[in-house]
Amino acid sequence: MTTDADDSIRSRSIAKYRKCAAGYDATCGPTWRIRERTVAALQLQPGQRVLDVGCGTGLSLPLLRAGVGATGMIYGFDQSPEMLAFARKRAAEHNWPNVQLLHTAAQDLRLPEPVDALLFHYAHDILRSPAALARILACARPQARVAIAGIKYFPAWLAPLNLWVYLKNYGYNGAPGDLRAPWNRIAPFLDGWQLTPTQFGMGYIGAGQLAVTTGGRG
Ligand SMILES: C[S@@+](CC[C@H](N)C(=O)[O-])C[C@H]1O[C@@H](n2cnc3c(N)ncnc32)[C@H](O)[C@@H]1O
Repeated sequence: MTTDADDSIRSRSIAKYRKCAAGYDATCGPTWRIRERTVAALQLQPGQRVLDVGCGTGLSLPLLRAGVGATGMIYGFDQSPEMLAFARKRAAEHNWPNVQLLHTAAQDLRLPEPVDALLFHYAHDILRSPAALARILACARPQARVAIAGIKYFPAWLAPLNLWVYLKNYGYNGAPGDLRAPWNRIAPFLDGWQLTPTQFGMGYIGAGQLAVTTGGRG
């Protein structure tokens, strides 16, 4: 169920991305390798259906398209009209008929079919919202692959650096903070969960697959 907290976090996020959408891609160069590794963790096969959660400007679309090929289907959604406009432009430039981009909040997501894989690339606010997660997981088939990348606090011995991590995160999230274990609301739904720290412990890539009892019909 969507809460008032969800609504105010979403409003703050939309306002932030209204300001930063145009410059967003230029900030993503340093994390490109993480994006590639996270998409690779989905182990996509030609013909599969994949969902790009909070797809932003669509930077992951070429990697996802390479994974599922011309016979697969790529869904992406974002609540920020400014971010999604860039994703739509990217898809149009490539002339991909099998990319469908939706302007919606995660909390209201509906897809026409269940997907085989879920990509959460720097989608922190969505990962922290139980209502958003419930809706997304209902749009995936049981045993769908899930891969997640994001920012997290450094381990305890580097804790003094975490103020910097918080401030870095602040510009991109309606609910900055909550960075100790950002995956801990989705991990209980996943089998074979594996977590790999990145960026000296300031980031992570996690992957697993939806439990047989989790997932829905789109
Ligand atoms: C840090 S950006 C990441 C974008 C993209 N995944 C990438 O890797 O470049 C986070 C994105 O999540 C979107 N977002 C945040 N909360 C959302 C929600 N509740 N529903 C839909 N989109 C949301 C934002 O608008 C933003 O585009």
